[in-house]
Amino acid sequence: MGDANVDGKCKMMSACSSAKLFLFMVPLVVVSGFLFVNPTSFLTSLSTNQISPPLPSYPSLPPAAPSPSPPTSSLSTNAESIQGNYNRTIQLNPTNIASTSSNVTSTASLKLMKKRVISNLEKIEFELQKARFKIFVYKEGEPPLFQDGPCKSIYSMEGNFIYEMETNTRFRTNNPEKAHAFYLPLSVVKMVRYVYERDSHDFSPIRKTVRDYIDLVGDKYPYWNRSIGADHFILSCHDWGPEASFSHPHLGQNSIRALCNANTSERFKPRKDVSIPEINLLTGSLKGLVGGPSPSSRPILAFFAGGVHGPVRPVLLQHWENKDSDIRVHKYLPKGTSYSDMMRNSKFCICPSGYEVASPRIVEALYSGCVPVLINSGYVPPFSDVLNWASFSVIVSVEDIPNLKTILTSISPRQYLRMYRRVLKVRRHFEVNSPAKRFDVFHMILHSIWVRRLNVRIREMGQNQQR
Ligand SMILES: *[C@@H]1O[C@H](CO)[C@@H](O)[C@H](O)[C@H]1NC(C)=O
Ligand SMILES: *[C@@H]1O[C@H](CO)[C@@H](O)[C@H](O)[C@H]1NC(C)=O
Ligand SMILES: *[C@@H]1O[C@H](CO)[C@@H](O)[C@H](O)[C@H]1NC(C)=O
Ligand SMILES: *[C@@H]1O[C@H](CO)[C@@H](O)[C@H](O)[C@H]1NC(C)=O
Repeated sequence: MGDANVDGKCKMMSACSSAKLFLFMVPLVVVSGFLFVNPTSFLTSLSTNQISPPLPSYPSLPPAAPSPSPPTSSLSTNAESIQGNYNRTIQLNPTNIASTSSNVTSTASLKLMKKRVISNLEKIEFELQKARFKIFVYKEGEPPLFQDGPCKSIYSMEGNFIYEMETNTRFRTNNPEKAHAFYLPLSVVKMVRYVYERDSHDFSPIRKTVRDYIDLVGDKYPYWNRSIGADHFILSCHDWGPEASFSHPHLGQNSIRALCNANTSERFKPRKDVSIPEINLLTGSLKGLVGGPSPSSRPILAFFAGGVHGPVRPVLLQHWENKDSDIRVHKYLPKGTSYSDMMRNSKFCICPSGYEVASPRIVEALYSGCVPVLINSGYVPPFSDVLNWASFSVIVSVEDIPNLKTILTSISPRQYLRMYRRVLKVRRHFEVNSPAKRFDVFHMILHSIWVRRLNVRIREMGQNQQR
């Protein structure tokens, strides 16, 4: 379960203000390659290439925003309103895209959508300036199990999210009466480290910790009972996140669970839960992770190196290890090569499931400009509400592993170039910044949570007979 290296504190990153500034600058410099993507073209490209019809595979999804009025909350930020650019504010907010577009499959419908948005412009704009998605973070619980989490390692999203929620006043409210959603700031990684007895296979200490916490906030505040947990959320990157959430039946059943381990076979529900990316931050920052050469300087067709665990990798190794010089599949990295160099020298990076469905390779591939090849079953890739993964990754079923080379070589250079460019465009949605920047992974996670919160209508207690 690799719980080593989980004690790096996110707080260290901002302890020194020049370090903070540096962290902020690094992505700007390193990834300046895609900064030309101005917000308008971002919308256009998202709409035509990367927006999938909202949650197409979940037909039972109740209509978003059940109220007839425009969205009453939004991830829109001060920065946008201050600039006062009407056209841009409306066009550019992925929140608006998700909440106003219901059928964005062609350029024609895109035009329709824009027209509709603009004809509602004043109303929406007015609402937008007043409204903001507000989250109450429970203050109960002591570090390290609560209010704390790892900021390094493949589980870094736990700590980075907790830390960003703590310091980001834009989305947080200290008044629970004003909150649209409630965050339960627990870390499953820390629980595995501090309350789970290693190799005991006894999950009950974790179960008890989670249950006691829910009981504590349920006793102290009226909000948990009011919605039976439906407007509450947790975030966990640990393989055991799903299991931990079922420590309390309503937490697992009703609450929004933001999970790296988004395995539908483990009761991940795409219309209620949020798939978040697994991001392996070795040093706690993005330094040196983002960037890579253009396709013409990538001599290797496809690359994978990694441990043989889980149900998919043995199949991959069996078919491709040392079989073909174009498909470099290794258990161990060849001597004298570095993992990140291999990724940067490859056109495609193979990302099979391991112990769990998510793999940090997906984000590593995006960061290094390598088109990811997703091989798994039951996995819901992150941010699928707004990102059309088929446009910037290759999705291969486990059964198709023997045909991997045929599949990849049938992608024409032109098609490949398009995918590569989209990789450069979408990767900012996977970047971790401290403080967070618009459209980065923190905002994407909040957006996904907001969309799911819209699907829930909460009534005052005592009005239940109206149902
Ligand atoms: C908004 O768009 C309209 C029509 O395209 C244009 O005339 C107007 O100047 C734009 N406003 C701003 C603030 O850019
Ligand atoms: C989009 O709209 C068109 C025309 O209104 C309709 O035929 C099509 O089925 C819609 N697609 C989706 C995914 O809703
Ligand atoms: C919420 O419900 C539980 C179980 O019914 C109860 O023990 C608790 O006191 C309730 N909380 C509040 C604030 O009323
Ligand atoms: C997803 O969950 C199912 C059921 O627990 C399991 O059989 C499968 O191996 C999981 N997939 C991965 C990659 O962990």
